[in-house]
Amino acid sequence: MAVDVILGLQWGDEGKGKIVDYLADKYDLVCRFQGGPNAGHTLKIDGKKYVLHTIPSGIFRPDITNVIGNGVVLDPITMVREIELLEDAGVDYLPRLLVSRKAHLIVPTHRYLDAASEAAKGLSKIGSTLKGIGPAYMDKTGRNGLRMGDMLAPDFEQRYKTIKTKHLGLIRLYPELKFDLEAQENMFFECVEKIKKLRYVNSEYYINDALSEGKMILAEGAQGSMLDIDFGTYPYVTSSNTISAGVCSGLGIAPNKIREVIGIAKAYCTRVGSGPFPTELMDETGEKLRKAGAEFGSTTGRPRRCGWIDIPQLSYTIMLKGVTQMIITKLDVLDSFEKISVGTAYSYENIVSDELPFDMGNIKIDPVYSDHDGWNQSLDGITEFNSLPDKAIKYVDHLEKLLKTKISMVSTGPEREKLLHLS
Ligand code: GDP
Ligand code: IMO
Ligand code: MG
Repeated sequence: MAVDVILGLQWGDEGKGKIVDYLADKYDLVCRFQGGPNAGHTLKIDGKKYVLHTIPSGIFRPDITNVIGNGVVLDPITMVREIELLEDAGVDYLPRLLVSRKAHLIVPTHRYLDAASEAAKGLSKIGSTLKGIGPAYMDKTGRNGLRMGDMLAPDFEQRYKTIKTKHLGLIRLYPELKFDLEAQENMFFECVEKIKKLRYVNSEYYINDALSEGKMILAEGAQGSMLDIDFGTYPYVTSSNTISAGVCSGLGIAPNKIREVIGIAKAYCTRVGSGPFPTELMDETGEKLRKAGAEFGSTTGRPRRCGWIDIPQLSYTIMLKGVTQMIITKLDVLDSFEKISVGTAYSYENIVSDELPFDMGNIKIDPVYSDHDGWNQSLDGITEFNSLPDKAIKYVDHLEKLLKTKISMVSTGPEREKLLHLS
């Protein structure tokens, strides 16, 4: 009947996985529409932590079908590791996991190219997760890519060899880099055989048929708005559209099928990898946020850069995505802060503005801050929004006013049940 969308409003890792897992029960289908194994979506269920990279976060809900859409790039090696994680957890995934025949394949030389390209960039490296995302999307738009449906073609090995030869030619343009291609290739073909047993569909038909039958769909975004290939902090971005438009092209659904656009933002802000981050804190407060929020990458383990929430940045992404409601995560991380700051405007080149400048990387931006008293108490065990400390309620109310967008829930811990509804 309709599609609701979950999107990250900052630089990724906003807690999308937790929210999708929580909300999935109200839907028939959960669909991923872009990105690939660069994503790391963490779920905490019954005291156990699971990190998903390509498989949608509705997979732990027994009645929900999960679809990997055409807009995703999929690495058979990561996919097999994820499947093994599900098997170990006793999840009956096979009947409920569908893969688009049109999703693109990540081959080992995509990762090789990613690593070579990053190494050659030196100090201006993107800080890529090195999962082969950029090169795989380059082949897609360059019309050279291999798709999941191609794996089943009789001449798949020949097609693979053609793309590999092209990649090896490109790799020669970069300084030499160690990469055990033979071992990676052997693993790749083993994993290809394993994932052939998954269910492949023409997902655009499957999804539109489900909508015609009155089913409800939750589209799960990966990364965050500021990593969008068009509107993010280019070139320090990923290679897909992380805004709502990505849902249409990545699943094959029309814009008029989208109902709610649910934006997820942390109560502060983080970024992993290089690139501009105006409200970043390079001091002990930033370090305290990293510790309190356990801010280390779910995919790479890298420490995340931390800073205060940034209103111009969020207003920009709310505008781009048409956000209809927001969920604020990790409010509990601010429990022990005497003072909480909010970036309310940018000061640059002798002006104060709430508009993000064209080249954020090369302009010195000094955020204008407003300060709030912290609540200095643990939120653990609080099950109603109205039972939060007054100062925490005030902080959320203030964000709602500044962002002119309804906040429907706040998250106070990594566990599935730690979500408070606002009336
Ligand atoms: P995603 O990529 O947007 O799904 O987010 P990640 O899983 O990469 O990172 C979010 C991290 O914060 C994970 O470790 C989650 O378990 C954790 N998390 C999610 N919500 C909350 C919350 O409300 N409070 C705390 N303390 N941790 C949370
Ligand atoms: P989730 O879905 C945070 C960042 C990388 C790098 C840049 C490009 O878990 O929120 P890529 O591997 O795409 O070439 O990296 O984007 N990045 C993410 N940062 N969360 C993610 O996903 C990310 N996916 C990519 O760190 O700066
Ligand atoms: Mg993540």
